[in-house]
Amino acid sequence: MEDVSDPPFRALCKEQGADVVYTEFISSEGLIRDAAKSVIKLDIYEKERPVGIQIFGAELDSMLQAVDIVEKSNPDIIDINFGCPVKKVVCKNAGAGILRDIPLMVKLTEAMVKRTKLPVTVKTRLGWDTNSIKIVEVAERLQDVGIKAISIHGRTRVQMYKGEADWKPIAAVKNNPRMHIPVFGNGDVDTPEAAVRMRDDFGLDGAMIGRASIGNPWFFKQVKHYFKTARHLAPPTMEERVEAARRHLQMAIDWKGEKLGVFETRRHYTNYFKGIPHFKEYRMKMVTSDDAADVFAAFDEVLEKFGDFQFA
Ligand SMILES: Cc1cc2nc3c(=O)[nH]c(=O)nc-3n(C[C@H](O)[C@H](O)[C@H](O)COP(=O)(O)O)c2cc1C
Repeated sequence: MEDVSDPPFRALCKEQGADVVYTEFISSEGLIRDAAKSVIKLDIYEKERPVGIQIFGAELDSMLQAVDIVEKSNPDIIDINFGCPVKKVVCKNAGAGILRDIPLMVKLTEAMVKRTKLPVTVKTRLGWDTNSIKIVEVAERLQDVGIKAISIHGRTRVQMYKGEADWKPIAAVKNNPRMHIPVFGNGDVDTPEAAVRMRDDFGLDGAMIGRASIGNPWFFKQVKHYFKTARHLAPPTMEERVEAARRHLQMAIDWKGEKLGVFETRRHYTNYFKGIPHFKEYRMKMVTSDDAADVFAAFDEVLEKFGDFQFA
């Protein structure tokens, strides 16, 4: 997830049970122009493997050059983003924009698969709009040109993030007798029960989890515990939350320096400490100072003040 799944966040998710993690999407055009904003996203830690690097674009040449650049970072997987609904991406036919030109989608994918020895996977949506959902056919064609797995978000581009994700067309992809690669479902897996439904009622091979993990890297462990026991794992204690926030901030600082590390970790705190009454004063301390020492001191204060708080 853009601006979310950087190496520190992915490392925390991995520690808490995620089986595979992916980078933020990276512009192929940015990579071939050596744009710092794109290049920094190639960084991966050994401890987060298996990890996929995700790229987007719609120009064949740029995508192939991007594959060569990505390979040098030695990820376990190269993932193609054919699902981003944002206007500035789709207007260039990239992301979900390519769902209006399936032959181009297949051609790009085939060329990228041929370019690399790494497994290539695709993340996409059901279709451009509800009148053009051909995901069963699209998935089969992508499989036939060599992708090793497909993740499908159960919404169309036109839907953006509105309404509910529809998992039925994803199950139709899985039930196509010609499909043999893993089919992962995505969209609205926000409880362990939803993950169980995706597995048992829809028969999918895995769940891709997005928003439910923001500020909640424990979600993966919670889902796995529920798979095993049909019981909910107790929510993380205050101590565990403070520890995660601390480690997140420290890894971010080590990775991109104090200024950026402090700034970019701020968006995670609200969720780490969600549900604590009268928390605003402490949250403000965490998100207003540019000085890491102040933020670490705020964490200590929170632990001292709310250490016994019982999370629901
Ligand atoms: C802040 C944010 C950034 C995202 N960035 C990406 C991205 O870079 N690549 C991608 O494949 N999907 C991205 N997505 C989409 C998610 O991967 C996922 O498809 C979508 O949120 C639905 O799944 P969820 O209900 O589990 O969140 C992003 C979503 C959010 C909320």
